[in-house]
Amino acid sequence: MGTKNFDAALAALKAHREQQGDFDLRAAFAANGNRFEAFSARQDDLLFDFSKCALTSETLTLLHTLAIAAGVETRRAAMFSGGRINNTEDRAVLHVALRAQQGERVMLDGHDVAEDVHAVLAAMADFAEGIRSGDLTGATGKPITDVVNIGIGGSDLGPAMATLALAPYHDGPRTHFVSNIDGAHIADTLKGLSAETTLFIIASKTFTTIETMTNAATARRWVAERLGEEAVGHHFAAVSTALDKVAAFGIASDRVFGFWDWVGGRYSVWSAVGLPVMIAVGADNFRQFLAGGHAMDRHFSDTPAARNVPLLMGLVGYWNRVVCGYPTRAVIPYDQRLARLPAYLQQLDMESNGKGVTIDGAPVATPTGPVVWGEPGTNGQHAFFQLLHQGTDIVPVEFLVAANGHEADLRFHHELLLANCFAQSEALMKGRTLYEARAQMLARGMSADEAERLAPHRAFPGNRPSVTLLYRMLDPYTLGRLIALYEHRVFVEAQLYGINAFDQWGVELGKELATGLLPVVEGRENAANRDASTAGLVAHMHELREG
Ligand code: F6P
Repeated sequence: MGTKNFDAALAALKAHREQQGDFDLRAAFAANGNRFEAFSARQDDLLFDFSKCALTSETLTLLHTLAIAAGVETRRAAMFSGGRINNTEDRAVLHVALRAQQGERVMLDGHDVAEDVHAVLAAMADFAEGIRSGDLTGATGKPITDVVNIGIGGSDLGPAMATLALAPYHDGPRTHFVSNIDGAHIADTLKGLSAETTLFIIASKTFTTIETMTNAATARRWVAERLGEEAVGHHFAAVSTALDKVAAFGIASDRVFGFWDWVGGRYSVWSAVGLPVMIAVGADNFRQFLAGGHAMDRHFSDTPAARNVPLLMGLVGYWNRVVCGYPTRAVIPYDQRLARLPAYLQQLDMESNGKGVTIDGAPVATPTGPVVWGEPGTNGQHAFFQLLHQGTDIVPVEFLVAANGHEADLRFHHELLLANCFAQSEALMKGRTLYEARAQMLARGMSADEAERLAPHRAFPGNRPSVTLLYRMLDPYTLGRLIALYEHRVFVEAQLYGINAFDQWGVELGKELATGLLPVVEGRENAANRDASTAGLVAHMHELREG
């Protein structure tokens, strides 16, 4: 950040970490019977437990001081009131307006954008219910059975993640998501589908993204070849901020759902980008999703710092990343339906906070966003948890789990799921000492020599940080709260890093080079002026094709 107060607050935090030395979580729990209460916070039923992190009340005080010095509250107010905090694109950042409730006003440049939001939502609901009821059919009069969303990044990950997460509420047509330029993606998706009963939604904020435009053109051809050119209009809808470009593609205006430049792609699932979710689960459930996001917005803007879940989550994330120096964070939902959440959060977090310069363009003085990765539990336990428990790197883990599953007749599965989730955070925290490992083997009748030999392999260092988000059930409202919580956490961390979380210039270079390399790959230009590795790869590729 570079301000005197911030630098002093960060120095104090680092000195405090030094003093902590080998902070012992086991001892901290033994010494303070109140540790869970002191280091957890709630938004209604949604609990954030961060007691299994190397923090004391002094750490928290220092982190709150840092947040004040970084101007988190001022920046939060600026975001909610439509300030142009995306300074490299000169844009407001108002995804919170997408979940404004009826009657609420959100002013931007003297205009109530909440009114626009509700108008689009109403149009989406009409369209979605038309498709769901069968009133809106394909060109031959058959109802739509399959919806294919064509989009990438924020125009894919949000709706794909949310549709899977809300599977128990899915009573509309089947949904499919095509994102990759790899022709395998669209080919495999279309294989089982009938053009007569398929609707394509082309989702692209800019309506220029090469992957999406190429897949959209392929889909258009696929429909035209099977049903004729005049049928195409019945089988396409679009979602974009670039309404002129959509019109040029030939999609009728009553099938185009707009959003606005103040919505970042990775923050857009709440907008018309959520259309496939709405078609899958219905407008009422989609509105519940929005209501959940709104509830988290209110909590973030109105709750005092000491109990503010997104703020605390951001502070803990910063502590682990910058002060403790852990370069990655694992997100492990104990929920198979949140299987796409880690990928979704990779874009949200890494595209937002993977920056190397401050808002003013100066090099950042601290590390910024961590590498985010993960898989659902319990599967991860049988794959990479070995490293989490005994590897040489420390990876803070974020567990997510619902108290109740949707499968009432499979209750025992859910008990096991919960037991595993709680057990993993306990194991990471407690570990198992050499002494305990040895004693356990001796108690099982192993010889003393053998127990001695195996003890180092069977001991766990423990003292490894994790946080847990625990909530009643993964319903649309709770999904909305969780996603908004993560958005705000990313925001808090960005303010502490002093960066702009809302641009993504880092994706541009690869796009430009790919455009330049296309004629080389196609063989229309030679690769002589490329670097030796790229030229060598292209030459070998041509040899393989010819051979
Ligand atoms: O390349 C990155 C990116 O711009 C993301 O930020 C965005 O979500 C994605 O591409 C897709 O962009 P669009 O919705 O404009 O097609």
